[in-house]
Amino acid sequence: MTSHEASAPHGARTGPLPFDTSVAHQARIYDYLLGGKDNYCADRAAAEELMEIWPEMIFTARANRAFLGRAVRYLAGEAGIRQFLDIGTGIPTAGNTHQVAQAIAPESRVVYVDYDPIVLAHARALLISGQAGATDYIDADLRDTGTILSQAAKLLDFTQPVAVTLLAILNAIPDSDGPYAIVARLLDSVPSGSYLVISHGGSDLLGRQALDALTDVAGRRIQQKVVYRTHEQVARFFDGTDLVEPGLVRIEEWRPERGAGEKGQSSGWCAMGRKR
Ligand SMILES: C[S@@+](CC[C@H](N)C(=O)[O-])C[C@H]1O[C@@H](n2cnc3c(N)ncnc32)[C@H](O)[C@@H]1O
Repeated sequence: MTSHEASAPHGARTGPLPFDTSVAHQARIYDYLLGGKDNYCADRAAAEELMEIWPEMIFTARANRAFLGRAVRYLAGEAGIRQFLDIGTGIPTAGNTHQVAQAIAPESRVVYVDYDPIVLAHARALLISGQAGATDYIDADLRDTGTILSQAAKLLDFTQPVAVTLLAILNAIPDSDGPYAIVARLLDSVPSGSYLVISHGGSDLLGRQALDALTDVAGRRIQQKVVYRTHEQVARFFDGTDLVEPGLVRIEEWRPERGAGEKGQSSGWCAMGRKR
């Protein structure tokens, strides 16, 4: 079964996105949903139209950001990880990966990757590392794993475990761009004991009508392609890893913190796998 995807209004492309504020970008829509200020009229209009069809979208975005925090705390704490490769960073906001990791393990090293010019413009905020650790930012497309891995190796030691985080980014990689091969190349480059973390919009968490309507809006309004995948399709990304409990679940249901809100509301899957 292929995933449910919409074409981008300006066609498929690889490499840095153009700085075009007249068309919505995924990073800026997400910023709007999180209550940020780095978004434009086209982003807000697209988000509002999407929310009409998918009222849980705002809950899903915020639950996704909260999942990032819990996942990184688990990795830096219980899993003892000190190196992070955060691909699809997003516009810096509260609780960026290095802040969460360095609050637990100040020596943590974090390499961020994104291809959006707005994220690049704000990258300085990501480079303010604690003195014991370090951060770097790579302006690259996830599909260009060669560039990402060679540049990340300037800060990360690929003979030691690395956590590769791909949160809410694989939704922008259609099947035709080989998302499974991309993730496999990243996993191949890190040693056993490394971790893979993914969150992903779930096509089987949205009704057929909503999915068709969302696909239509995204196709008309958003610069990137938008792809939704099923539980089974997301699980395939974790081949070669053992899933950390509770496995592949809705994003708000992964190790929820005390007092967390309702379960079963988001439309996204997430999991963390440890490389065998
Ligand atoms: C929805 S945001 C998620 C931000 C953060 N990972 C989080 O979960 O809070 C997705 C980010 O992925 C980036 N992105 C999408 N496709 C990408 C690609 N092919 N290469 C690099 N970055 C990409 C977007 O620019 C955006 O900043």
